[in-house]
Amino acid sequence: IKEVLIISTPEDSPHIEQLLGDGRELGMKLSYEIQEEPNGVAEAFKIGESFLGGEHSMLILGDNLFYGNFSSIVSAIEKQTNNLDESTARIFAYKVNDPERFGVVEFDPKTKKVLSLEEKPINPKSYYAVPGIYIYDGSVCDKVKKMKPSPRGELEITDLNLTYLKEGKLSCEIFGRGMAWLDSGTPESLLEAGNFVEIIEKRQGLKIACIEEIALRKGFISYKGFIKLIHSRPKGPYRDYLESIKDEFFEVNKPNKKVA
Ligand code: G1P
Repeated sequence: IKEVLIISTPEDSPHIEQLLGDGRELGMKLSYEIQEEPNGVAEAFKIGESFLGGEHSMLILGDNLFYGNFSSIVSAIEKQTNNLDESTARIFAYKVNDPERFGVVEFDPKTKKVLSLEEKPINPKSYYAVPGIYIYDGSVCDKVKKMKPSPRGELEITDLNLTYLKEGKLSCEIFGRGMAWLDSGTPESLLEAGNFVEIIEKRQGLKIACIEEIALRKGFISYKGFIKLIHSRPKGPYRDYLESIKDEFFEVNKPNKKVA
């Protein structure tokens, strides 16, 4: 996914835009829109309607952190874009200790088909939470237009998913143990997520989600473009890391060099 619309508050949006820019130097196209009031996650599809232009899309919540084995996400994207089954919306499930904090999905134990979806239920029907990563077809914007706000005054993402479930068009993939899903929506969970990232990065000497590195490795930008990017970054540990990637990438890709 190279085209991304970032939706945030009137206060935060200018800072995010200042940090990330239009994405050109990363071989991407980043756009920005503002959500004036916290009217719910599903409002993204009213705000982003012209950006999407009727195409398939993936929605990811900015306070969710995913790390690890992405095979179920990749396979869901493939199924969606190649119409490999009858589903037109896809959610994921992750076993947690405190499902009542999230959207909760209940499955048929045999077929793994979704039986019910509930937003922050007092008595959850399962231990499976729905993480903030969702895939939809082009009909999503029209569906959101027909939705009514929940008692807490929000257009709920769970209500949107329920409309697909009622049509028999919703599928759900369970994230295996190789995936870490953390959220950072409270001060405590932000600290925990920060500690998690620090532990992995320190252990490996590799950064998690370094966008310049990803752009280079995925071929979004050339080696030359990467060098230009490094020079535009302020001096410090982050730039030092990019320098180390440059050397390693050059070594591995040097002609006639054998790589084990
Ligand atoms: C939102 C969704 C919820 C989902 C969660 C994931 O909750 O409404 O279904 O499980 O994100 O982080 P919120 O963060 O708005 O409380």
